[in-house]
Amino acid sequence: MPAVVIIGAQWGDEGKGKATDLLAEHIDYVVKFNGGNNAGHTVVIGNEKYALHLLPSGILTPGVVPVISNGVVIDPAVLFEELDALNARGIDTSKLRISANAHVITSYHVTIDKVTERFLGKRAIGTTGRGIGPTYSDKINRIGIRIQDLFDESILRQKVEAALVSKNNLLTKVYNRAAIKTEAVVRELLGFAERLRPMVGDTALELHQALEANKLVLFEGGQATMLDVDHGTYPFVTSSNATAGGASTGSGVGPTKLKSIIGIVKAYTTRVGSGPFPTELFDDSGEFLRSTGHEYGTTTGRPRRCGWYDAPIARYSARINGLTDFVLTKLDVLTGLKEIPVCVAYDVDGVRHEEVPVSQSDFHHAKPIYENFPGWEEDISKCRTFEELPKNAQDYILAVEKLSGCRISAIGVGPARDAIIVRHDMLAI
Ligand code: GDP
Ligand code: IMO
Ligand code: MG
Repeated sequence: MPAVVIIGAQWGDEGKGKATDLLAEHIDYVVKFNGGNNAGHTVVIGNEKYALHLLPSGILTPGVVPVISNGVVIDPAVLFEELDALNARGIDTSKLRISANAHVITSYHVTIDKVTERFLGKRAIGTTGRGIGPTYSDKINRIGIRIQDLFDESILRQKVEAALVSKNNLLTKVYNRAAIKTEAVVRELLGFAERLRPMVGDTALELHQALEANKLVLFEGGQATMLDVDHGTYPFVTSSNATAGGASTGSGVGPTKLKSIIGIVKAYTTRVGSGPFPTELFDDSGEFLRSTGHEYGTTTGRPRRCGWYDAPIARYSARINGLTDFVLTKLDVLTGLKEIPVCVAYDVDGVRHEEVPVSQSDFHHAKPIYENFPGWEEDISKCRTFEELPKNAQDYILAVEKLSGCRISAIGVGPARDAIIVRHDMLAI
């Protein structure tokens, strides 16, 4: 059975958690393949609201096996907190599987993340401060700590010691901070080992066997295409591959197994943290989107920057990820607007660009060229078919679909689990 991938097609917070939840009843495994507890997915089920960070959203569906694969960075203290909180609410988390090769976020990674941001001053990335970048740098530098290292005290001590040499020099000599003691870190990490042990294994093999046994595997991306370390707005990105290819490298499931690639896109755009954002609004319209859409971060509570839909970004995402479907979320937030602008191309220093410019400086200068579409007044939150939507909402969707390079297979009309219109079967693979 092939695998299905869900990824963010903009700058994150598109509603990936809800999209996973929508498909979760049909799937057997749900895999988080990138990022860590920088992610924040809100899922609303009945009167209950769940905020997930490190765990994949599919964990909320009974029977699904949740997997944290090798591409993820794990803060074990956060993992246990999240598991305990879900257990206290009656969610069964006992099936969770964790890759022995996933890297560990330690307290020194969190410290370095925060200190580095402070010293970057106005060039700060606006990270979530969860230690994500420093943990991935150690992985690439080959001085990272993996989950399997927690089960071998002597190796763990050697690795922590090696990792701390450069960090302590940096902390004491450049940042004027106290040195971190190897022993304290080793003790803390060893304290996580026994609870982790039964969850840890060769998840690449387990996923391969699941696919061989005709199980349906869903990969749930954290962050989004424009935050991808290779394809996003570097350096204002996260430190992992949040695009569809990351599902393969981040899990050990080969690319030929990935069939449906579903991009989640909001009917407008938001971004948290620094970096270019051509359609950003600084006026009442931006405030309207923020307040109507409740655009405040699930992880940090920061107000999200808001702007109109950006079709070149959607086309870029469709290309980079090889999308088979879009899920367009939060259409209901646009209700009540007289006119809805959609960015169709950019003006860069007087030259029209149809696509996202490759040069960072050009993208920083990109001014949106808008086409306006008529809005609607009717409440759409109860609509469950495309035909029930007001004509102007239908036309908006069809126009956006034409501009975005891939079919729109589902449309979100509210935060609740069932507030969705399905146009095409995304699992028909
Ligand atoms: P994620 O990080 O991509 O999973 O998205 P977040 O959970 O950070 O942010 C999306 C927010 O939008 C959540 O609070 C969802 O409950 C909410 N949401 C998702 N789909 C819809 C929708 O179609 N309409 C409305 N009004 N809210 C939605
Ligand atoms: P979900 O999965 C939105 C942003 C941060 C910052 C940049 C780097 O909920 O869509 P990091 O801590 O990763 O080093 O921060 O990336 N960022 C997100 N923005 N949604 C997210 O996750 C994000 N995860 C990281 O705000 O600009
Ligand atoms: Mg989020």
